[in-house]
Amino acid sequence: MGSAEAITKTELPLQLLNRGKVRDNYLLDGNILMVATDRLSAFDVVFSEGIPWKGTVLTQLSLFWFDFTKGIIPNHILLPNAPPELLSKFPYLNHRGVLVKRTRVLPIEVVVRGYLAGSGWKDYQATGKVCGIDLPSGLQKGSKLPEPILTPATKEEQGQHDINITNGQAGEIVLKATGEDLFGKLHGAAIKIYKKASDYALSRGIIIADTKFEFGMLDGQLLVIDEMMTPDSSRFWPVDGYTPGREQASFDKQFARDYLETLNWDKRPPAPSLPPDIIEGTSQRYIEAYEKITGKKFNF
Ligand SMILES: Nc1ncnc2c1ncn2[C@@H]1O[C@H](COP(=O)(O)OP(=O)(O)OP(=O)(O)O)[C@@H](O)[C@H]1O
Ligand SMILES: [Mg+2]
Repeated sequence: MGSAEAITKTELPLQLLNRGKVRDNYLLDGNILMVATDRLSAFDVVFSEGIPWKGTVLTQLSLFWFDFTKGIIPNHILLPNAPPELLSKFPYLNHRGVLVKRTRVLPIEVVVRGYLAGSGWKDYQATGKVCGIDLPSGLQKGSKLPEPILTPATKEEQGQHDINITNGQAGEIVLKATGEDLFGKLHGAAIKIYKKASDYALSRGIIIADTKFEFGMLDGQLLVIDEMMTPDSSRFWPVDGYTPGREQASFDKQFARDYLETLNWDKRPPAPSLPPDIIEGTSQRYIEAYEKITGKKFNF
């Protein structure tokens, strides 16, 4: 493997479109050079320490899934790496930068859940539903749902938590943003992607409990964008030891979250510093998720 130094900020001689919690986006010939850094965000707060290899894992897993699901819906990928002329000047971009189509991002988070966790579990406990969708009674924390469901959320400003909404509300937001009634198409694609990918992941020992997609429009075409089924956008649980009714072990940033829960931190900035063993453990879990899912050694 190359250098294990974490990349937490990029400064490229291109127009910066935005710095998200994790990705830095630059304009390149009308397209976007999307660079996944090693920044870690938990509880919507970004930490100053990076997680070595995290950005590479996010980029490579997304590329794996975009390819795996391209028959269901087209995606935003133009080039699976940064262009060669940039790579030669900025070698750290290798395997973590991708060139993507610049789309108009639909202003909803498209969450698909196959299992009950996180805000889904909270909603269910309070109302017996998730985002207005009726579910059977007697489900436990971590239970598998009879069918995967789409539970959309608003996209809130940085630092704010997204708010769960109904499919009807999401449909109206999409209609208002695009002038087109696209929600049915988007819903169908999201559920199909989740089913195909989660069946495959299960065969590789991982439960994808839930995941978040983003969609964008370009020239009248609906595209799936951003990242796809990474440990940042999903809950990955090992099949071995899966038991509903309790917290599951995980390959995602739950490991870092569990540590943060032991601190007396109010989950507001500034973020506490992360000890080396938590950084290392998180890095290992991301790499393990990549290796389990792709069946390939992480060798970048
Ligand atoms: N093809 C695309 N066209 C336009 N924007 C894109 C595309 N793919 C991803 N994005 C945007 O790039 C950003 C990725 O950065 P990152 O994931 O770090 O953001 P974030 O902190 O999660 O913020 P957000 O809440 O906006 O997603 C997101 O705002 C996402 O919507
Ligand atoms: Mg994001």
